[in-house]
Amino acid sequence: MINRRDTVKLGAGLLALPAVNALAGKTLQTDLIRKAIPASGERIPVIGMGTSRTFDRKGNAESLETLTAVMRAFADGGGTVIDSSPMYGRAEERVGDVLRGMSPRPPVFAATKVWTTGKDKGIAQMQESEQRMGVKPFDLIAVHNLKDWKTHLETLRQWQEEGRVRYVGITTSHGRNHDEFEELMATQKLDFVQFSYNIEDRAAERRLLPLAAEHGIATMINRPFQRGDLFSRARGKPLPPLAQELGCTSWAQFFLKYIAGHPAVTCIIPATAKAKHMADNMGANRGLLPDAQQRAAMQALFEKL
Ligand SMILES: NC(=O)c1ccc[n+]([C@@H]2O[C@H](COP(=O)([O-])OP(=O)(O)OC[C@H]3O[C@@H](n4cnc5c(N)ncnc54)[C@H](OP(=O)(O)O)[C@@H]3O)[C@@H](O)[C@H]2O)c1
Repeated sequence: MINRRDTVKLGAGLLALPAVNALAGKTLQTDLIRKAIPASGERIPVIGMGTSRTFDRKGNAESLETLTAVMRAFADGGGTVIDSSPMYGRAEERVGDVLRGMSPRPPVFAATKVWTTGKDKGIAQMQESEQRMGVKPFDLIAVHNLKDWKTHLETLRQWQEEGRVRYVGITTSHGRNHDEFEELMATQKLDFVQFSYNIEDRAAERRLLPLAAEHGIATMINRPFQRGDLFSRARGKPLPPLAQELGCTSWAQFFLKYIAGHPAVTCIIPATAKAKHMADNMGANRGLLPDAQQRAAMQALFEKL
């Protein structure tokens, strides 16, 4: 088993280990990139998926068909980590509908959040999430944007002891509550933290990513495309030779591999409502990761766009 210290030492590139993908009914040799959760050594695919806005859809046949195609592209690409939240409207329910309708049901590492005030309301919300997503126990439940974190972390730790959730964590997004977030990372026992990080918004490099490495906390990265803004900057621009060296065939893969190459990043959760974009994103789930020098070169290339 890999312990917390070994994980930090191993570095990102070495964690790109071969794996077998038997998802589409056929056994394929792939080079799926997996990274270890420091608390357990369990390895998860580096590219997961977010569901904010993209899965907040009506439950009609048309939506389900679209979202099932997105989920299928995700599973075919070796993805398992799905992030949702009761904050995302109907997203948890649609993830559940889609998974229930797939045969065979793809393997999933299911993550949601608790986003309310008070112990009883927190418990009721987490139980509702189990129903909506059809997942019990969740692999990960995190306190969304630190809302009433003291109350919910206490409940979550008790659930964890009872085997009702596997990992616990906290989340934030761009620039919000970073001081308090850092304090919790240093003082609370957390398995996962989730925050924003991308090639344009690199604030997390200053404190959050080093703290995660120091305390052996897995990181789940949200807003990897700056909510899609990165594409407006790259649109129409040719991919640089470095992208090809890393096996990237699109800017999306370039942006994801930049993040994945950071040694303290465990997984990334880009969101899309398009199967074509999902297949594209899953292309970053395999092959090589950039080292520190290549990441610096990627940064310089991005700044010239
Ligand atoms: N505090 C928190 O806990 C928190 C905060 C923010 C986000 N999150 C989580 O993080 C997830 C990701 O963040 P996000 O949804 O804000 O932003 P994001 O993943 O950075 O960007 C999503 C946008 O990128 C576009 N996109 C995705 N793949 C693409 C591709 N291959 N080519 C072109 N465009 C592509 C999508 O449009 P299309 O649909 O057209 O592809 C969508 O508009 C969320 O869904 C949520 O699960 C959590």
